[in-house]
Amino acid sequence: MIVRIAPSLLSANFAHLAEDIGKVERGGADLLHLDVMDGHFVPNISFGPLVVDAVRKVTSLPLDVHLMIEDPDRYIEAFIDAGADSIAVHLEVLPHLHRTVHLIQKLGARAGVAINPATPVSALEDIAADLNYVLVMSVNPGFGGQTFIPRSESKVRAVRELLDKQASRAVVAIDGGIEESNAAAVVAAGVEILVAGTSIFGQADPARAVRDLRATAGGRA
Ligand code: DX5
Ligand code: ZN
Repeated sequence: MIVRIAPSLLSANFAHLAEDIGKVERGGADLLHLDVMDGHFVPNISFGPLVVDAVRKVTSLPLDVHLMIEDPDRYIEAFIDAGADSIAVHLEVLPHLHRTVHLIQKLGARAGVAINPATPVSALEDIAADLNYVLVMSVNPGFGGQTFIPRSESKVRAVRELLDKQASRAVVAIDGGIEESNAAAVVAAGVEILVAGTSIFGQADPARAVRDLRATAGGRA
């Protein structure tokens, strides 16, 4: 299985974003994960389309935008215009998830659905076939540097099974507390995209951290 490494910019140095992005590019990062927080859905505020647009101008890596906001429908177009290649929305805030997923795809981006630690996998059943990816949250969203919730490993397995049962080619991504000690286990459970903030940008050598995480996780096919 091909494992993709997605450094989360939340743990980067915002005064030197381009420089930090260059470091993970040199380490072979496959995509960049950008966390958008509104202070309502999660108890933290990060950034909006302006930063996505600025990042778009300094890298050719695909940009994966994780919307941790209450009313994603209002902002999807702005994030895609700013350069998002994929957008993950939270199942917990969307009464019309099917409409939202198809809006993202109609606007030309890949659509993902993120699920919080307490959200049951079964909630994905009627949308799984429409998705490009599922983002399993292995911490409660809102902050970088939290501890991986061990149950997330079996959750990944259950998500992969659900997707396979529906012959869905959607990939499973995981986000929160990912580091060398748990990467191989979640990949074995079915993860293809590892999002990691602290374990990459929190290290003295982020390029090396990307390479080490990939090596531990099983490398590229
Ligand atoms: C958490 C964010 C994550 C965060 C991960 O709400 O969605 O993407 O940046 O950071 P680490 O890898 O430090 O847990
Ligand atoms: Zn995230």
